[in-house]
Amino acid sequence: MPNLIIRQARILLPEGNLASGDVWIQAGKIAEIALTDSASPRESSFEVIDAEGLTLLPGVIDPQVHFREPGLEHKEDLFTASCACAQGGVTSFLEMPNTRPLTTTQAALDDKLQRAAQKCLVNYGFFIGATAENLPDLLEAHPTPGIKIFMGSMHGPLLVDQEAALTALFAKGDRLIAVHAEDQARILERRQQFAGITDPAIHSQIQDHQAALNATQLALKLSKQYQRRLHILHLSTAEEAELLRRDKPAWVTAEVTPQHLLLNTSAYEQIGTLAQMNPPLRSPHDNEVLWQALRDGVLDFIATDHAPHTLEEKARPYPDSPSGMPGVETSLPLMLTQAMQGRCTIAQVSHWMSTAVAKAYGIRHKGVIAPGYDADLVLVDLNHSRPVRREDLRTKCGWSPFEGWNLTGWPVITLVGGQVVYDRGHLNTQVRGRALSFQGQEEG
Ligand code: DOR
Repeated sequence: MPNLIIRQARILLPEGNLASGDVWIQAGKIAEIALTDSASPRESSFEVIDAEGLTLLPGVIDPQVHFREPGLEHKEDLFTASCACAQGGVTSFLEMPNTRPLTTTQAALDDKLQRAAQKCLVNYGFFIGATAENLPDLLEAHPTPGIKIFMGSMHGPLLVDQEAALTALFAKGDRLIAVHAEDQARILERRQQFAGITDPAIHSQIQDHQAALNATQLALKLSKQYQRRLHILHLSTAEEAELLRRDKPAWVTAEVTPQHLLLNTSAYEQIGTLAQMNPPLRSPHDNEVLWQALRDGVLDFIATDHAPHTLEEKARPYPDSPSGMPGVETSLPLMLTQAMQGRCTIAQVSHWMSTAVAKAYGIRHKGVIAPGYDADLVLVDLNHSRPVRREDLRTKCGWSPFEGWNLTGWPVITLVGGQVVYDRGHLNTQVRGRALSFQGQEEG
């Protein structure tokens, strides 16, 4: 592995300020930050990346993705998804258990880890999924960022929607529980009520605000009862954000997706079922309340919920069209564009997309640019804008809900463990990420 010097980048420092300087990388780690021009490399063994005009950020850690392998590789696989990550500045991801087979046992988790070791260009971790029957697996599985519970919006055995079964899961063990919080009973009832409607906009009414709020309230209640570390995935409504603003124990964290911040139900008119996801898109008012909650620290960080489906699958009429949209290669420029427009700062974007994620999941030595930290880094160009174009995407599904959006801050170079994995449109497919480890998961 070559030693590297990234020269004259604008570096996002741990205090949140940007300063020009050089970053020295040795054996995959950040060795030194020199905030003056450190002239020519002191040792010829250092390769030089000229980063003048570019901004250096910690690599994005995306804490909720669906990469479809094994079993659903016609939508995505760990190689294509990790290529999309590299191009999007995502250097680590946490992946969800709704693959085939479901990731509900140590054997299924080991299988994913082995596949990832062979083909993943970036670092990886995999959730273990809860069923009503696999408590022993949930307690023992290793390494995993936590237990994923689908309280709603999921068919098959991954669903745990009964309070008694949920209570049993919250009562036993102490590892992080991450919930997809939607009330399955209410969704089923409303599906019947609105049966026959094929306009995908009805999706947001079937899986409505109340369905999300009911489940978040229940998860919060159980978490408080057992003081159990809880993470609320892709929180989508103003009501849930206000609930957490009033009452959020220190051991609870919550995330929001770029699409719940930036898209709303008006998207159905423009892109139809491509806007269909779970939990569904909400109103412009929800967008605003979620932004404020994020800025105020009520919401802790950002995940994409990258959930690719083929265009053919998405072309089925609602409700046969599947829910989900891709996101790993647009999330960073989407959020940096918001920062350039003054809605937040670059330091906040990096905090929400990297630093806070590493802290919440106990991922050591990542999420900060400082000596001793892993050299998982992304150089972005904040002076250049270009639109999201289908032909530039690496995800196997080949589309984005943000096509045509003109974004600033696209990744130029991405490094994983000190190796250049992406450089101006080119991937180094020889690079391999590593399995993440999760220690002493901290409170929010
Ligand atoms: O829209 C969604 N699609 N939400 C989820 O939580 C699951 C995902 C998928 O796997 O397609």
